[in-house]
Amino acid sequence: MQIATTIEDVRRVRWADPAQTWGLVPTMGMLHEGHLSLVRRARADNDCVGVSIFVNPIQFDRRADLDAYPRQLRRDCELLQAEGVDLVWTPAEDEMYPPGFQTYVALDAISQVLEGAARPGHFRGVTTVVAKLFNVFQPTRAYFGQKDAQQAAVIQQMVRDLAFNLDVVVCPIVREPDGLAMSSRNVRLAPDERAAALVLYRALTAARDEWEQGKRDGDRLRATMRAIVESEPLARLDYVSAADPVTLAEITGPADRALLSMAVFFGDVRLIDNMILQ
Ligand code: PAF
Repeated sequence: MQIATTIEDVRRVRWADPAQTWGLVPTMGMLHEGHLSLVRRARADNDCVGVSIFVNPIQFDRRADLDAYPRQLRRDCELLQAEGVDLVWTPAEDEMYPPGFQTYVALDAISQVLEGAARPGHFRGVTTVVAKLFNVFQPTRAYFGQKDAQQAAVIQQMVRDLAFNLDVVVCPIVREPDGLAMSSRNVRLAPDERAAALVLYRALTAARDEWEQGKRDGDRLRATMRAIVESEPLARLDYVSAADPVTLAEITGPADRALLSMAVFFGDVRLIDNMILQ
């Protein structure tokens, strides 16, 4: 496994044999089973696999979140080596954002709802860094988790709009045995918050059960999820949504497909989760 820090090194490794297909898994490190499932899928689909590890400062709306973001590069590299990854790219901040940097990629409506409304500027940071990762790496395929459903939808929209020459592959959410979606933030939950956090999955599955019984009205699905989350004393609801999975517009009447999603605080830890129904 090669470890590159500069753009020049990445390009040298990437184009050593132009006939080879490359899968890229963009990450911010602190890898868990969710990331490794993306790496394994990339390994299965491509000749070579690259993983970027970069804690992207411009997608954090609060400096405290950026500072608190856990980092463990050495362990991440060991995990990636064990998965047979070919190239890890760990750019320095001034490689990604050199002095004088002033070009940003920002999407309209799709990035302004849900996570975008709760975290202004977040998706502008994500799409800017992902566009740069794509330009430098030029992967055949890029892998993202369904856990960040809006991020996946925003990136797919960007790839269509700007005609990036790659396929975006969205991989299923990986859950703990009790249903909690895997996230780097789970380690910050106190034991009672960790138990309470199961309310996200409970709320999603209750709405899914209603959907399966033919109760497919957006308002009703949101009300079901809201009531369940609000019944958990340690949970503070940020938002619940039942939206179209592609446009992310909220469903107002009955629908034939839906992305259920929510964000919930436990103390100062904010968790998100979602489920696609169709
Ligand atoms: O999902 C993440 O870890 C980040 O948002 C990404 C896609 C690596 C961009 O910084």
